[in-house]
Amino acid sequence: MISVSTIQKINDEARVEDIVGEFVTLKKRGANLQGLCPFHNEKTPSFNVSPAKNIYKCFGCGKAGGPLNFLMDYQQMSYPDALRYVAKKYGIEIEETERTDEEKQRELEQHNLTESILIANTAAQKFFTDYMLHNENGKIGLAYFKERGFLTSTIEKFQLGFAPDAGDAFTKHALQNGYQLDILKKAGLTSPKENSTYDFFRNRVMFPIHNLTGKVVAFGGRIMGKDEKAPKYVNTPESEVYIKSKVLYGLFFSKNDIRKKDECLLVEGYTDVISLHQNGIENVVASSGTALTQEQIRLVKRITSNITLIYDGDAAGIKAALRGTDLILEEGMNVRIVVLPAPEDPDSYVRKVGAEDFQKYVQQNKRDLISFKTSMLAEEAKQDPIQKAKLIREIIESIAKIPDQIQRSVYIKQSSQLFDMHEQILITEVNKLRRKRVKEAEQAINPEQQLVQAANEAQEQKALADIHGEQLNEASGNLPLLEREVVRVLMEFGSWQLLVEETMTTVTAFVLAELEGLEIQTPRLQKTYGYIKSEFAQGNVHDEKHFLQHDDIEVASLAIEILAQPYSLSENWWNKYQVVVPEKRNIFARDIQSVLNHYKRHITTEEIKKVNAAIKKASEEGNEEELMNLLKDHRLLTEQKKEISKNSGTVI
Ligand code: GTP
Ligand code: MN
Repeated sequence: MISVSTIQKINDEARVEDIVGEFVTLKKRGANLQGLCPFHNEKTPSFNVSPAKNIYKCFGCGKAGGPLNFLMDYQQMSYPDALRYVAKKYGIEIEETERTDEEKQRELEQHNLTESILIANTAAQKFFTDYMLHNENGKIGLAYFKERGFLTSTIEKFQLGFAPDAGDAFTKHALQNGYQLDILKKAGLTSPKENSTYDFFRNRVMFPIHNLTGKVVAFGGRIMGKDEKAPKYVNTPESEVYIKSKVLYGLFFSKNDIRKKDECLLVEGYTDVISLHQNGIENVVASSGTALTQEQIRLVKRITSNITLIYDGDAAGIKAALRGTDLILEEGMNVRIVVLPAPEDPDSYVRKVGAEDFQKYVQQNKRDLISFKTSMLAEEAKQDPIQKAKLIREIIESIAKIPDQIQRSVYIKQSSQLFDMHEQILITEVNKLRRKRVKEAEQAINPEQQLVQAANEAQEQKALADIHGEQLNEASGNLPLLEREVVRVLMEFGSWQLLVEETMTTVTAFVLAELEGLEIQTPRLQKTYGYIKSEFAQGNVHDEKHFLQHDDIEVASLAIEILAQPYSLSENWWNKYQVVVPEKRNIFARDIQSVLNHYKRHITTEEIKKVNAAIKKASEEGNEEELMNLLKDHRLLTEQKKEISKNSGTVI
């Protein structure tokens, strides 16, 4: 283990420009460096490195981080490897924590144990297959597979076998061949009971489970007949090499075809995978009857982003399918669902109709999440408002898990049509859930990511401050300029949606409510402001284009003059800092807030000035009552100003 102080030292020394510079050609632009992003394909550089902040950020694809993140992300290094890499580069001596030797020993033992278990598993697989093919007592297993329609080539490919009924036949064989009992027990091949040499699998047909590199990590053993008491399948207990949640049955055999077809079929059972393979459908894996896990989905995600769930048409199958969908959506992948006609499973169905019709059925019955969930609701339930509300809630929850905004809005549109519901209501609900989730996620995020996130935010805030803030600060005594900014945000973002206290509202509605009771004083702006207000009173909000193309030349020319400005300012900013200005949609809410705060602060300051003058006059005149009133006003106004300043993050 690398000591904490060494990690500290490495973090202090590592320079983002050095590390990134090894892999990306960077050119100096002002205080920053710039190059072609190594994470995505581009012709014009949008990959920025900030030595001052010691971070990189691509404004094209959004990848960002510090020196260590870069090595982990671009070079796929583990965290310790990245640390060692940096240490070597800067000649930092790595101090290992005291337990080093012991730990090294344990690591070595662990490594050996893993290897030993894998070797024992391979031996077991060979034994089971051999026993099935060549031992008189094993032929019953072969007959079972043949009966199910499995060809010899299929049996060989999937290394199927049979575990004898004898009690300790395998363990005895393995011990005779030099395998250690404790390894056999740790591999789950021999009964874990002390001193026992009893085989774990007995009288069952055997399905070896392979990892991504084709090594046997576990077995599933199926009972041959029907037995009400014994379980249909027995699986290897979890071990050093077998963690159920991280393995997908069939992935080793299917990965190439998944890549080729850019789609992964997901079924429930071992026999489903095998049968489909035998029929030439080779892009298929099984979750082995357990609920799909995030780790399993990520295994697939490395190869394709399209998953099609194929489930039995019974209630349990549908339930299982639904459990899986949300997790897949959360990973940002596309999920489709196919339910087979009851009582078929993929194995029985492909045997019944053949490969071609099977494929046809899948293609024709693939549904996306929304239509699948909706179709589950019977016609009569659609009339039941409680059932309907429950379903809508479920769908909203699923949609909220989709990371991609465009995909989310497609689903929202679709649901709003299906349920005949206002799109806005769905958007509001989805956003509420997302905000809750983001908050929860932020609490779970690791410190390093937090740093990167904070750096990015600071950068955006600075960008915003530089675009409008500087100008606003200069303008703080200049009412026309502040009013102009108010009109600008109304024209630029008027029809955009803003989340205010859990509710979506238009920028126009928000700004006008905030400025309730205030009148614009600059004559040139009054007409347009009045127009926006009266349009809003009639239920209309407009976008930029509307003002720019307005029939009233006065409104249009004002729009052209005002709306052109942020861009020219951005241009300046770009030249000054050599960093891409953050996209407007990321900062517009803060932009509006900042404009409103500056404007309101100005108005309040002017009020305070007036009250101050009146206080002076009242005290000169000795008008006690008036003075008391004015002092109260003064206190209220100062509090108001403090409140505004607090909102805008500036301190007076
Ligand atoms: P066949 O009945 O042989 O066609 O198997 P199947 O794969 O169709 O079985 P089923 O659809 O009943 O179950 C799907 C998967 O769930 C199986 O492939 C197993 O991985 C798992 N499974 C089923 N029954 C059991 C059980 O009793 N115990 C355990 N641990 N897993 C089971
Ligand atoms: Mn089956």
